[in-house]
Amino acid sequence: MKVLVVGGGGREHALVWKIAQSPRVSRIYCAPGNAGISEQATIVSIKANELKGLLDFALKEKIDLTVVGPEEPLTRGVVDLFESKGLSIFGASQKAAELEGSKAFAKEMMKKCHLPTASYGVFEDRQGAIDYIHKQGAPIVVKADGLAAGKGVILCKTVEEAIRSVDQVMVEKVFGEAGNRVVIEEYLVGEEASYLAFTDGKTILPLASSQDHKAVFDEDEGPNTGGMGAYSPAPVVTEEVHEKIIEKVLRPIIYGMNEEGRPYKGVIYAGLMIHNGHPKVLEFNARFGDPETQPVLMRMKGDLIPILEACIHGNLSRCKIEWENKASVCVVMASDGYPGDYQKGRAIEGLKEVSKMEDVFVFHAGTAFTDGKMITNGGRVLGVTGLGENIPKAIERTYEAIAKISWDGVHYRKDIGKKALCWL
Ligand code: AMP
Ligand code: GLY
Repeated sequence: MKVLVVGGGGREHALVWKIAQSPRVSRIYCAPGNAGISEQATIVSIKANELKGLLDFALKEKIDLTVVGPEEPLTRGVVDLFESKGLSIFGASQKAAELEGSKAFAKEMMKKCHLPTASYGVFEDRQGAIDYIHKQGAPIVVKADGLAAGKGVILCKTVEEAIRSVDQVMVEKVFGEAGNRVVIEEYLVGEEASYLAFTDGKTILPLASSQDHKAVFDEDEGPNTGGMGAYSPAPVVTEEVHEKIIEKVLRPIIYGMNEEGRPYKGVIYAGLMIHNGHPKVLEFNARFGDPETQPVLMRMKGDLIPILEACIHGNLSRCKIEWENKASVCVVMASDGYPGDYQKGRAIEGLKEVSKMEDVFVFHAGTAFTDGKMITNGGRVLGVTGLGENIPKAIERTYEAIAKISWDGVHYRKDIGKKALCWL
């Protein structure tokens, strides 16, 4: 079969890498892909949000299955468009993806379904937001309602900071139209985890747990990024917490979305804050996480294709997933300056040497190939991912690989996985 993967980051490289292992797949395309992906898939120069271009390509090439990585094409309705032409596509429909596309909608659903989450208010006027902040006090969280590339959340230590943030979001529109409405939320404490599950709208088939590292610097200092590294499994998700996530979060939300006439098919990602064994929902995403997908898929045994198809066809109850009894750690190597301004075009050294290492794979995010050289071409450049018999071994393996890779102006966190160690 012919598969098209939509997107061009580390997550999509991991999807391509896993799909390429399926005996049923004869050809993989990736739009727009990146230099690393081009080693396993045919690159198609169509952007992930050019829905019409993607559709024309899939029809012309008779693509058997399309798999969508990023949120934007989902929230714009790529799944609905493909399905209206009889094409098979894995991902949430536009109405289902609103769970990620609008934080106000997501909170409303969480309330309707009685999910454990932070208390909140939604405001379309500045004064209403400010009155609420005065009433609640600080610390408090200000969120732009719409999509803001993972940057629309401001954690505020003081009331003054929260008011300033409301002005940035609603008046200065630093996140554009995403700031037409704000969600003001209770500040939650605890340890974060990412919990992803496949679903066909009835059955919930969890993926292995993982934990992202959003802040750019060690010890969670500095601004939030798309994610600087992740590991799997996340020991904070104990057997008991796992049960609570399924019964108190995932089952009710999937049921609730059906009740709303927004049946959810695809992969659902719950961002959770876990405190004293109690998970609370921070957010939902309608897609695989990046970088969580890299370490999670490294641990997944078996063929991904039948699971993706079962989500589409509504027979997921027949599927099972087995996981390597090993841990994996992904460290993102980024361009210095990210998530702010950074340089591109720096030559990357050491990839060949790392490709010979066992239990290590380098997923590419922002790379390009020019004049016979691999160069940096984005903020997050590589996701170096290693397996080990436990988290400490996986950390060691990954940083051993990282030590061999370099470019002028590389930045990465030195403490990915450290949080898991206190559980051992
Ligand atoms: P979100 O995009 O909603 O997941 O927010 C991005 C990050 O902000 C999360 O991963 C958390 O680290 C943090 N965050 C979001 N909401 C809250 C909250 N209510 N309390 C504390 N931290 C939060
Ligand atoms: N790793 C965070 C995200 O994918 O949104």
